[in-house]
Amino acid sequence: MNILILGGGGREHALAWAVMQNPKCDKLIVAPGNAGIAKIAECASLDILNGDAVVQFCEANAISFVIIGPEAPLAAGVADRLRDAGVLTFGPSQAAAQLEASKGFTKEICDACGAPTASYARFDTAEDARAYVQDQGAPIVIKADGLAAGKGVIVAMDMATALGAIDDMFAGEFGSAGAEVVIEEFMEGEEASFFVLSDGENVLPLGTAQDHKRAYDGDEGPNTGGMGAYSPAPIMTDTVTQKALDEIVKPTVAEMAKRGTPYQGVLYAGFMIKNGQPRLVEYNARFGDPECQVLMLRLGAQVLDHLLACAEGRLHEARVNWADDHAMTVVMAAKGYPGAYEKGTEIRGLSDLPEDSAHMVFHAGTSERDGKIVATGGRVLNVTARGATLQEARDRAYDMTSRIDWPEGFYRTDIGWRAL
Ligand code: AMP
Ligand code: GLY
Repeated sequence: MNILILGGGGREHALAWAVMQNPKCDKLIVAPGNAGIAKIAECASLDILNGDAVVQFCEANAISFVIIGPEAPLAAGVADRLRDAGVLTFGPSQAAAQLEASKGFTKEICDACGAPTASYARFDTAEDARAYVQDQGAPIVIKADGLAAGKGVIVAMDMATALGAIDDMFAGEFGSAGAEVVIEEFMEGEEASFFVLSDGENVLPLGTAQDHKRAYDGDEGPNTGGMGAYSPAPIMTDTVTQKALDEIVKPTVAEMAKRGTPYQGVLYAGFMIKNGQPRLVEYNARFGDPECQVLMLRLGAQVLDHLLACAEGRLHEARVNWADDHAMTVVMAAKGYPGAYEKGTEIRGLSDLPEDSAHMVFHAGTSERDGKIVATGGRVLNVTARGATLQEARDRAYDMTSRIDWPEGFYRTDIGWRAL
């Protein structure tokens, strides 16, 4: 079959790498793709937020399956448009993607199905929000309701920060995403992510991961989209995973179906875990980036079968074939990220690195210019490795990073410290 993947980051490179290994894939096109993806698939230029344009592209290129990588096309209703046109699609509808696009909506779903999460209140004026925070005290968490590129959450350890965050959000710092604000109880514990496929009714767990959001070693520095990840997450023991499925994920999927907006796609649940009890921090309607990279390296070609079973409503038949392995990805970013950084700097040494089922450098923000690979984004490369132990995966990943010649880049040297 001919397959189209929407997106152009490390997540989509990892998805493309896994899909390409499955003999069911005859031809793979990725839009927009990047320099790493261009080595294994065709890259196309296409407005991926425009459902009509994507449908036309599918018709013109005889595409029979579309995999949607990032959240923006989901929130824009591209999956709905494709399914209306009869194109088999992996990714939730606009209504179901609200689990990521609206934090207030997710809290409402948790209330309705009894899923453990932080207590909260929703506000549409600064005055009421301020009064609530003054009553509750710090620490407390202030969240813009809508999509804010991962920046709309302020964990306020003191009252001044909390009140400042409220004023900034209502002053329009996150645009319309901050027109409504959710204020939550601060939860203590250890965070982990859980990835499950849902076909609207059945769920299939794909794996667990932990990431590092801070830019620098020791979990210091500004928040980023993620500087590295590993899978599995040791804190997600069988007992915690079963609790998360029974108390949070399955009730959510059932509640979405009950409302006539079944969730079809990958549900990425972020948990805070304390004393063996998971509580929901957030949902995302897509794979995590860079968590997807470690999941794909571990799962390989079978991923396509599972994504197809998900899109076709056959997840009850699907079985994940697990190896008892570990994977780690180290993000190489442009110096200055997540602030201002230089673009167009050259990366050397990539062609000398191994590329096999245990070693892959996924590209997140690169393009090719005059035969050279140049950095075009903040997070640029995801140096990913697999091993029998996390230590082996780590050693392999860091051996590769040390061989990449890119003076304008940086990476954390302590990915996985908590688990190791
Ligand atoms: P989110 O975008 O909802 O994932 O929030 C970003 C980060 O803020 C999470 O990964 C947590 O580290 C932190 N966070 C969000 N909500 C809470 C909460 N209620 N208590 C403690 N930390 C939180
Ligand atoms: N790595 C965090 C995310 O994809 O949201």
